[in-house]
Amino acid sequence: MKKSDNRMDANSHLILHRTARKDIKAGIPIISRGEGAYVFDEEGNRYLDLDAGVTRPVHVGYGRRDLAQAAYDQMCRLAYYTPCQFTTRPPMDLAAKLAAITPAPINRFLFECDGSEAVESAMKIAKHYHHYQGDKGRFKIISRRGAYHGVNGIGVRALGTVMPMRQIMEPLAPGGIFVDSPYCYRCPVNLTYPDCDIACARNVEQVIEFENPEQISALIGEPIQQGFGALAPPREYWPIIREICDRYGILLIIDEVICGFGRTGKMFAIEHFQIAPDLMTMAKGITSGYVPLGAVGCTDKVMAPIDILMHLHTYGNHPVACAAALKNLDIIIGEELVENSRKMGEYFLEGLKTLESIAIVGEARGTGLWTALDFTTAKKTRALFPLDRLNKIIAEAKRKGFIIKTMGHALEFAPPLIIRKEQIDATIDMLAEIISAEAKDMGC
Ligand SMILES: Cc1ncc(COP(=O)(O)O)c(C=O)c1O
Repeated sequence: MKKSDNRMDANSHLILHRTARKDIKAGIPIISRGEGAYVFDEEGNRYLDLDAGVTRPVHVGYGRRDLAQAAYDQMCRLAYYTPCQFTTRPPMDLAAKLAAITPAPINRFLFECDGSEAVESAMKIAKHYHHYQGDKGRFKIISRRGAYHGVNGIGVRALGTVMPMRQIMEPLAPGGIFVDSPYCYRCPVNLTYPDCDIACARNVEQVIEFENPEQISALIGEPIQQGFGALAPPREYWPIIREICDRYGILLIIDEVICGFGRTGKMFAIEHFQIAPDLMTMAKGITSGYVPLGAVGCTDKVMAPIDILMHLHTYGNHPVACAAALKNLDIIIGEELVENSRKMGEYFLEGLKTLESIAIVGEARGTGLWTALDFTTAKKTRALFPLDRLNKIIAEAKRKGFIIKTMGHALEFAPPLIIRKEQIDATIDMLAEIISAEAKDMGC
């Protein structure tokens, strides 16, 4: 069988995630090396990676030997031991570290392999909490249209954004309920902030009443949401949701899989909103993607009634992944990457705001080093922007050596937290050129 040398093509035996047949036919870059905020492919091209590995985990940047060494040392010492009846030291140390840096009263931690499993386990823990208190009818989960919480069984039912993913997998586990997302640029209830009185949050109560409060276990949401492109809700949103959950005995799961570990300029994004979650999910930046790891944090109150967590996962509480996470957190804290995310994020957003003058750019927004440009064909009506045009912009950026991605009708940026000013300047110049050319091509 003929094999292409430096690109993957349709002859490869590998199955790619979410990649169209036509793109595979055209040839897929084989990324072979990374250094700082850059990655290199087997054809020798260098890319500035503005989405930290595209799925955005690589907070500390590529090529950190100290992080690799921590994983290697643990592998040599003890590569594996079961997460039930015994423990190893690294997950205990990581749990203690997370207890110190997560918002109070989150205090107990369980480790899984990725964000999807963390979400799954958080929902299971919520179910256990209610079950052990005799509240056995609570099986429903509230999520938001526009949300993404991973690819696994219970989590998939809280998947509101990547519609073909959800629809191909139907029928889903019963009990998924959807409410609106706080998407102010294209308000789902056609109101304007602040006159809206945060209707998208207040309306959750009607849904709870309709669905029967005694059947609802938890509400899950990202503090700042990826679905429409780095979407922060109004500051009143989470306090309203928290109050409604408390009133109905519903647990609040805050999904920090993307936002956690400095992405938004604070260690955790929920710190922007001054509320305390009952459970938190984490992954991605917890190891900067060097090894797979997800985590669930919960309060003492949530764990207190649970006699045995009926859960066993071979790779749960994995010592090597936890050792890598400990080193990764040392780097994030020691090198002040959360502060760099805040500072460079502000600088990046200032640059993106200058692009709002281009006819097809609707809104520049962002928090820390998680920013987005929302596109429209008509600024007045905020009409949706054709996705093939956005994909053209991405392809052109790639040709120029920049990796960017779409989210909804936006371009999304989540670079490694080590990104520097001159790299941001180069990005803004590149975007100004490509987006202006696209606007001209569209006759806007
Ligand atoms: C908010 C959120 N939750 C959960 C997940 C699932 O994480 P993973 O892809 O590591 O399974 C993702 C993935 O992007 C996510 O963004």
